[in-house]
Amino acid sequence: SDLLQIAIDGPASAGKSTVAKLVAHQLGYVYCDTGAMYRAVTWAAIRKNIRLDDNSALEKMVAEIKISFKPSADGQRVYVDQDEVTADIRLPKIANNVSTVAAQLSVREALTKRQQEIAFRGGIVMDGRDIGTTVLPDAQVKIFLVASVKERALRRFKENQAKGLEMNLEQLEQEIAERDHKDSTRAVSPLIQASDAVKVDTTMLSIDQVVAKIMEIIQKKA
Ligand code: C5P
Repeated sequence: SDLLQIAIDGPASAGKSTVAKLVAHQLGYVYCDTGAMYRAVTWAAIRKNIRLDDNSALEKMVAEIKISFKPSADGQRVYVDQDEVTADIRLPKIANNVSTVAAQLSVREALTKRQQEIAFRGGIVMDGRDIGTTVLPDAQVKIFLVASVKERALRRFKENQAKGLEMNLEQLEQEIAERDHKDSTRAVSPLIQASDAVKVDTTMLSIDQVVAKIMEIIQKKA
């Protein structure tokens, strides 16, 4: 049967990566976390002391660095050149700055091109903000995952707690709302539901329920 392109978009902490990984596993597809690519660029810019809104300096930098993914037992490792950044790119310092970098046209153009190359042959589940609208406008399956800000903050809170990171719940809620706002209102490829995407609200659903719902949507389209 045909190898599909499956796009999963939505706001921060809606469960995209967890669900996308499981769907990819069930289908024997490759999973691509495009948010990790924007985070890796942010990590590199901070390390190199490049201003996070300097479009042309970022353009030059992105052309010079290599972002790569390596499968591992506990998911996927992320590298910038030889440096493993898997854990670092999840830190608040990156989370709170990535939207600025992701709003730069040069960065979006370079990463979009890389993502299109990765997805070219199909057999891919790609998650992000603009996959269904910009990166893979012809994807056969498009999902828009949403959940209330409160629920998303709570999920991130528990995730952090499990990692031993104590964070204030209200502050997390505020940071998530702020990132949503920046991602939804930027000029280039804002976070927006594609007209042909299926919206799935995960607020009241378990991970397994969300995966089952998406598999059903895929089976209808295949
Ligand atoms: O998905 P994640 O929360 O890791 O994404 C981090 C940030 O990267 C988002 O808040 C957004 O600013 C940016 N991003 C984007 N386009 C994508 C994926 C992520 O602008 N396709």
